[in-house]
Amino acid sequence: MAEAIPYFQDRSCPYHPPAGYRPLREAGPLTHVTFYDGRKVWAVTGHAEARTLLSDQRLSADRQNPAFPIPVERFAALRRVRTPLIGVDDPEHNTQRRMLIPSFSTKRVAALRPEIQRIVDELLDRMLAQGPPAELVSAFALPVPSMVICSLLGVPYTDHEFFEEESRHLLRGQTAEEAEGARIALEEYFTGLIAHKEKNPGDGLLDELIADRLRAGSLEHEELVRLAMILLVAGHETTANMISLGTFTLLEHPDELARLTAEESLMPAAVEELLRFLSIADGMLRVAKEDIEIGGTVIRADDGVLFPTSLINRDDTAYPSPDRLDVGRSARHHVAFGFGIHQCLGQNLARAEMEIALRSLFARIPDLRLAVPAAEIPFKPGDTLQGMIELPLAW
Ligand code: HEM
Repeated sequence: MAEAIPYFQDRSCPYHPPAGYRPLREAGPLTHVTFYDGRKVWAVTGHAEARTLLSDQRLSADRQNPAFPIPVERFAALRRVRTPLIGVDDPEHNTQRRMLIPSFSTKRVAALRPEIQRIVDELLDRMLAQGPPAELVSAFALPVPSMVICSLLGVPYTDHEFFEEESRHLLRGQTAEEAEGARIALEEYFTGLIAHKEKNPGDGLLDELIADRLRAGSLEHEELVRLAMILLVAGHETTANMISLGTFTLLEHPDELARLTAEESLMPAAVEELLRFLSIADGMLRVAKEDIEIGGTVIRADDGVLFPTSLINRDDTAYPSPDRLDVGRSARHHVAFGFGIHQCLGQNLARAEMEIALRSLFARIPDLRLAVPAAEIPFKPGDTLQGMIELPLAW
């Protein structure tokens, strides 16, 4: 087994896993990494092993379990409160998830497509009227999912500067205090918004939950506030990174981009391939509730387990030439959205947003290019969602 290497590490190229993770790939499918506090946890890098373990209910997502692994200091703030959905196990998880599934179904998302297209078109009109150049993250990649999730939830988009900033502190703050401050600010915001909606109903998902669940007493105020927060944060930061990093990656792979623009029907496969290749949520975490035996290795009760998606999605037993971007391949079964009971609730929505955003961007601006050399463009550090901090473009 390889010596336990430090985790997280920064990527040196925004779309490849950190070079420092190579020993993990070589020592896989199950090996060890070390977290900032010196704790050793299992790292699962094999595709088959990851899917088996992510569907094993003996692994828990409960962050309040004192043995739950904390990879960076600010994540310690997450321990203090019970995080619905993503931080609870079944049966509680199942009750919460069933309440939300209809709002994220393929049918619901299909009905949202015209609204997503309208938002994308308007933002592109504005970008074209003002540029070139343009900074894609602020002009397009962030506002698209932000506007869409606001409209779905019934959150006023006019508050976007506040919640985008607090989400940044939550996901990328330097300390546990900064992350905790952001969590409290967002909770206060939603407490106020929900109180307002109780008196002035609107027509978003939050309004439906107030009318159908809160009033009926089957959902507590505090749980609704925390659910709203998770949906808002998960609903905009993730997809924004996929749009910015997806655009950068396609511009850096002109042959693949040319294939895609020549044959529009490739777009759904290309989105799956980008999800696999970029693996922006690079590190799901669990704690073992009992001993688990897998392929001759035993994960002991209370052991921490890490799932580095960027390595799992590049397991060459699952994907031939995994380090090559190939928009025509079938990248299905990737774990970029996770796997098992916590598999991303918003995946249909995220796919629709990515497809519409990328298709429209390259169709409207066929001569899109980086405005500065690729090496000068800042991207996010390894201990958060991966993506571009800025993306200066010209045409
Ligand atoms: C491309 C964009 C996205 C990526 C890569 C992504 C990734 C993920 C991953 C990896 C998980 C599983 C975490 C785990 O098992 O610990 C997850 C869960 C989740 N995602 Fe996403 N996500 C994206 C977009 C969205 C959107 C648009 C929403 C909309 C609200 C959303 C809401 C959620 C929720 C609520 C969960 C928790 C589900 C549960 O625990 O049952 N995500 N996501």
